Amino acid sequence: MNETAGLAHAPRLASNAGPKMSARDVHVFYGTTEALKGVSLDITTDEVIAFIGPSGCGKSTFLRCFNRMNDTVASARVTGTITLEGEDVYAPTMDVVQLRARVGMVFQKPNPFPKSIYENIAYGPRIHGLARSRSELDGIVENALQRAGLWTEVRDRLDEPGTALSGGQQQRLCIARAIAVDPEVILMDEPCSALDPIATAKVEELIDELRGRYAIVIVTHNMQQAARISQKTAFFHLGDLVEFGDTRQIFTNPRETRTKDYITGRYG
Ligand SMILES: Nc1ncnc2c1ncn2[C@@H]1O[C@H](COP(=O)(O)OP(=O)(O)O)[C@@H](O)[C@H]1O
Ligand SMILES: [Mg+2]
Repeated sequence: MNETAGLAHAPRLASNAGPKMSARDVHVFYGTTEALKGVSLDITTDEVIAFIGPSGCGKSTFLRCFNRMNDTVASARVTGTITLEGEDVYAPTMDVVQLRARVGMVFQKPNPFPKSIYENIAYGPRIHGLARSRSELDGIVENALQRAGLWTEVRDRLDEPGTALSGGQQQRLCIARAIAVDPEVILMDEPCSALDPIATAKVEELIDELRGRYAIVIVTHNMQQAARISQKTAFFHLGDLVEFGDTRQIFTNPRETRTKDYITGRYG
């Protein structure tokens, strides 16, 4: 395959100075209800961060702040600061389409476009002008599918609809689609909750392989999953970030009573 095809091949410039993204005192309101109550957190490229906590505690709400997905919710209002490489994500000058390519998202339910497997991947690179020719685009598509661990399964059926794949394959297709535009951050909101254990294991393996190249944040209600795949864990409760630290510490020696109660299954 062509080694110069598209940005996905370019070595990423090291940018070790500071976090990839920062949230400072972020509040989110839905109408008058405060769903997130002043959360600060840094996201770095060398680790997977898991967001855990009981249903309704604000995990998805917070995750969606990082690529302004809350903009699509009419009643949502976000205050505080979120930066990407020091740049204010909520600045009026921010190009939200560009932002969502740089900060990609994978949802709970696999949502391939009603198009071919090839087109699912090619769509983003095409609208972002990442390929100068069909062969470059082919290279980007192959590379993204390779990285998502899906290439050998779909190489002979690229013209088939993405929706014809199994659920686990569809989710890896959605991850490949996010990767194809060479994001810096990948946000995943319970990406395995609709998958069976084998498909889940494949996605977990994939997340581990992607670690280091992309900053990855994953919301999960599955504490075993958080323990398996993340290096840092953030525990949320009723809109507060209660505790954030090394995953091992959070699960073996939590500092906060609320964290301990949650991981020992007292509520949740
Ligand atoms: N679109 C919305 N409109 C109004 N309230 C919402 C909306 N989305 C979430 N909420 C509320 O915000 C709180 C946090 O929800 P959410 O971020 O989805 O929690 P989690 O992902 O941790 O389950 C909940 O009380 C939920 O009911
Ligand atoms: Mg959620």
